[in-house]
Amino acid sequence: MERLVWRTIVISFIVGIIVNAQGVTNSIIVDIPSAKNTISKYIYGHFAEHLGRCIYGGIWVGKNSKIPNVRGYRKDVLEALKELNVPVLRWPGGCFADTYHWKDGIGPVEKRPKFLNTTWGGVVEDNSFGTHEFLDFCELIGAEPYISVNVGSGTVQEAVEWVEYVNSTNTPMAELRKRNGREKPWNVKFWGIGNETWGCGGIMSADYYASILAQYSYFLKDYGTPLIKIASGGLQDDYNWTETVMRKWSKVDNWLKDFMKGYSLHYYTVLDWNKKGSATDFTEAEWFLTMKKTLFMNELINNHSEIMNLYDPEKKIGLIVDEWGTWFDVEPGTNPAFLYQQNTLRDALVAAVNLNIFNNHCDRVKMANIAQTVNVLQAVILTKDDQMVLTPTYYVFKMYKVHQNATQIPVSVACEPYRFGPEVLPSLSVSASKNAQGKIYISIANIDPQNGKRVTISLSGRTVTTVRGDVLTAETMNAYNDFGKQPVVVPRTFTNVTLNSGVLTAEIPSKSVVVLECE
Ligand code: AHR
Repeated sequence: MERLVWRTIVISFIVGIIVNAQGVTNSIIVDIPSAKNTISKYIYGHFAEHLGRCIYGGIWVGKNSKIPNVRGYRKDVLEALKELNVPVLRWPGGCFADTYHWKDGIGPVEKRPKFLNTTWGGVVEDNSFGTHEFLDFCELIGAEPYISVNVGSGTVQEAVEWVEYVNSTNTPMAELRKRNGREKPWNVKFWGIGNETWGCGGIMSADYYASILAQYSYFLKDYGTPLIKIASGGLQDDYNWTETVMRKWSKVDNWLKDFMKGYSLHYYTVLDWNKKGSATDFTEAEWFLTMKKTLFMNELINNHSEIMNLYDPEKKIGLIVDEWGTWFDVEPGTNPAFLYQQNTLRDALVAAVNLNIFNNHCDRVKMANIAQTVNVLQAVILTKDDQMVLTPTYYVFKMYKVHQNATQIPVSVACEPYRFGPEVLPSLSVSASKNAQGKIYISIANIDPQNGKRVTISLSGRTVTTVRGDVLTAETMNAYNDFGKQPVVVPRTFTNVTLNSGVLTAEIPSKSVVVLECE
């Protein structure tokens, strides 16, 4: 009898472990009838700065390069970016923007002055990639341009003329543009009024910047293209900055209120600014900390939104997360000022978690721009001479593009914790949307690098009859795609999902990103 009791206890213990290992306690409810807000396509935006090899070598190689190019733009990068449906591209910085004088970058290339890029490595900037080259590139990849004007070391007049140059049809600046080979205006709508004005953009105080913002914005006229002027936010969790700028906005007369239509937030996932760690060689402790730091984006958005809601309950001003991504040590042997880092499955999880956060806050977050497009920080593309690598982050953007301009569906998620030592994080990050054809997309990231999760997914208000999906994962946490090697982190068809009486059951692998499509 005693032996039987023990056997029963042992069997239940083992069953318990199996059940838990399969994660039967994980459930997602997709509340289709509550779907309301649009996930702005601009959330899937990018950022390209004159920094390291982002522009030069990454996007632009010049017309005479041996690297296959279209009018000077790398062909491989061009094609890869087209695949992503990049909705918006921010340029020329970043901190570089506050040293940039746009008139140096127009007209015959051989006559353009050179200067030292003192912000990023003291290299010579020859201005061969300027306004025309940037705006033509945007047209080629089908992205809308977002120009960040020089508030730090430029003038109001310089900014005013930049808008006139690119947007007007019959003014002196339009004539200059036409003489430089471009007849039609580009009609650029997004304009950043300074970048990190608390730091590299001028070390300003919130009060001082709020006045500068109003001054610049007031004088930037639209020439028939309504402008979306984006204010520079404070240092990540500087809520006083948000309060100050929003208060200023709320106090002006209605007819002046369009001096700000967007408010920017920058937040990088960094382990420790003094010890950032390798992008590829890391422990589970560093993986855990990366996830913890990246999840802080949610808190930041909640807190900034709360302040914005006080002054702008109608949500006329978008929160624009125009710099986000991981920031690790540069690759050994590379220029420390070029911020070149590899990109692993860890970065893919960071991308998925952030994009889920933005999707779920799409009532306030109207744009986000990953830093940066090519060869810098959490790049979607890496290049080496004529070779190109599509990073795990690239594939997350590819899988998630289904959410662009779709209607966000609220989700409730119950999941097992991801435990590491005494700390815990929610293991699953989820967002969902419905497109114009009625297809439902559910994106799920399992940040737990050890345990897969069995997840039940109920879709309220809809009978689902078919489901398909893609999964991005790899054998190891630090798997990455490298030059000259078969890529190891690529999306594959996801088959571990079943449909029973309208309820989905999916086996989400450890350290993976899954996107399901339901009809
Ligand atoms: O993306 C790199 C730099 O990070 C940008 O130039 C700056 O705005 C931020 O601090």
